[in-house]
Amino acid sequence: MRMFSCEISESSGGRTELGAANARMAFANFCAPHTAHARAPAAWQRKDRLTEISGPRAAQQPDLRPHQVELICMDDLKTALRSFAKSVTVISCAHSGERFAMTATAVSEVCLEPPTMLVCINKSASIAAPLIDESRFAINVLDRSQQQISEDCSGRRSGDDRFADQDWTSDHLDTPYLQNSQATIFCRVARTLEYGTHFVVFGEVQGVRANDRPTPLIYIDRRYLDASLDTTVP
Ligand SMILES: Cc1cc2nc3c(=O)[nH]c(=O)nc-3n(C[C@H](O)[C@H](O)[C@H](O)COP(=O)(O)O)c2cc1C
Repeated sequence: MRMFSCEISESSGGRTELGAANARMAFANFCAPHTAHARAPAAWQRKDRLTEISGPRAAQQPDLRPHQVELICMDDLKTALRSFAKSVTVISCAHSGERFAMTATAVSEVCLEPPTMLVCINKSASIAAPLIDESRFAINVLDRSQQQISEDCSGRRSGDDRFADQDWTSDHLDTPYLQNSQATIFCRVARTLEYGTHFVVFGEVQGVRANDRPTPLIYIDRRYLDASLDTTVP
């Protein structure tokens, strides 16, 4: 069994506090028809949680705490989220001689001073603990020709099989990256927040490789799209 040293004790405490009764209520609400008035708010709808697991404590940054959320229709939210056109990336890292990779679209620039990126990683993903522990990772922005790699790294393959494509190589610090990606941004974990089901990882940019003619692979409405820059809105 692999051991990772990231500290997540506060979040486990949070889950305990929610309790089995609330978990059951949340599950029942999720399964019930989407008539908001008929449902009691699920635990997460009444109280969101934010736990910082590295750096200054979240409690000292009240502006980071989310407001209480209103009852929402999850189907409507999922429909809204499907309309985001996202560049597909694969996040990659190495830990104790093992390589990890995961397709991700919840990726964003944060600021240029200091140069910082942000990635949202489900806590259950195999890359989550090693990435936080290792602290170095790469954001590979996929080219439109790399849909297969996206599919490999989002569940079709697992473990080191995700690195079957010839395009994978490693930098001088052993961080795996894709040579023919649109761009690769090498980061060091600067801060990690734990929010709901995800880790929100802030990465300080350490290096960049970029293709100056972007032909990215786009994900929208649960489909891959080849977004050619030849077609622009007049
Ligand atoms: C287009 C696309 C985008 C995704 N974006 C994310 C993301 O931003 N964060 C995340 O945690 N999972 C995301 N996923 C899901 C993971 O890639 C998928 O669950 C993966 O299998 C998790 O890794 P594991 O199998 O090693 O646990 C995305 C999947 C796809 C197909």
